[in-house]
Amino acid sequence: MTVRPHTSLDTELLSEIIREQGTPTYVYDARILDAGVCRWIDAVGDPSRICYAVKANYNLGVLARLTTHGIGFEASTVGEMARALAAGIPAKRIVLGGVPKPPEAVEEGIRRGLDLVVLQAAHEVEAAVRAGASLEGPPARVGLRVRPGIRAGAHPSLETGRADAKFGFGPSEIQEAWIALDGAKGVEPTTLAFHLGSGLDSLEPYEGAIEVLLRLVRDLESSGHAVRELDLGGGLGVAYDEDGADLEPAELVRIVRERLDGTDLGVRYEPGRSIAARAGTLVTRVLYRRERDGHPALVCDGGFTDFGRFSLYGAQHRIEPLEGSLEGPDTVEVLGPTCESGDKLGTERPLHGVRPGDLLAVRDVGAYGFVMASNYNARPRPAEVMVDDDGWKVVRQRESLEDLWRGETVG
Ligand SMILES: Cc1ncc(COP(=O)(O)O)c(C=O)c1O
Repeated sequence: MTVRPHTSLDTELLSEIIREQGTPTYVYDARILDAGVCRWIDAVGDPSRICYAVKANYNLGVLARLTTHGIGFEASTVGEMARALAAGIPAKRIVLGGVPKPPEAVEEGIRRGLDLVVLQAAHEVEAAVRAGASLEGPPARVGLRVRPGIRAGAHPSLETGRADAKFGFGPSEIQEAWIALDGAKGVEPTTLAFHLGSGLDSLEPYEGAIEVLLRLVRDLESSGHAVRELDLGGGLGVAYDEDGADLEPAELVRIVRERLDGTDLGVRYEPGRSIAARAGTLVTRVLYRRERDGHPALVCDGGFTDFGRFSLYGAQHRIEPLEGSLEGPDTVEVLGPTCESGDKLGTERPLHGVRPGDLLAVRDVGAYGFVMASNYNARPRPAEVMVDDDGWKVVRQRESLEDLWRGETVG
């Protein structure tokens, strides 16, 4: 792949990328990805205890860059696991996470010799016991995801640890599931896990959830079953607005160490957003400007099919003009081109001076951006580009029209 020289991820560079690749295009800065991982490694120490949540951004170029830091990876599906393997990540550095899975996924994870398979429902435990029975060699490490009954997350759809959530075992169901695994051939239960939600703006929920896990560890111990580690999932939020501050991994690690003082439990973290979000920018072009009852709106060539976080969660990302000027404080809505009125990239954005043809940069879209893009309205998904010290390269081609009907037949 061609690598073009550049100096920094500035307007000039983004404009050059767009001249060649068109819009909308995702641009990732590999150096910001590095900084995101290093913040975690500095806090945690051992890189293998950090398992990047592949779902946040699973472009092969992104995964290949992250794996150079020696970290682990959490995949929530067989597809994510296959992507991680395709990026050159060894099976022994992959965790199959505690997200609802068909029995075949559990069996595949165990057969593949992953670092850990986290189970979160009775049928997954049964599948693990079945797969373990025919396993040659050392037993497969498995864990159980607990639903600690704690509210946390930037939006109700992002809360996953509530008592009524679909994820994981309730605390009262853990003993039975653990005992089933502890007595089985070919599997070794080692881990209790939770994932509270995504986009957390406070670390307090972790404290309550760790207490729930510690109680379960003690209960299991008193019935003769040893827990070796806790997996605390992901969740650290990013301040998407201009002046907020991101939650710090070092502060989370400090709290965790305080709570686990006096135990010999290992700890695993699964950050996604806090590693990848800041590294991404989506560049889109303004098609036209629309005045609606005194409320100006910019209609762009990128919309919710390319970047869905405003339409899904009301997430307001910084949107900046790449060229052109900001005239005055007035705000505009930034709309996408599809046939849905709810197709928006943001509202109340200070972009009054922006004109048709101008380029806009939607910031901090490196996590849960492209991975949630769709082909609705038969729109090819955007290109993805990676910028590094040496230059930039396309890490995923923009889809072609033919890609839109690949695998289909007319009869
Ligand atoms: C089990 C699990 N671990 C980790 C993550 C990553 O969360 P975040 O990107 O908020 O750090 C998720 C996100 O949904 C998850 O489901």
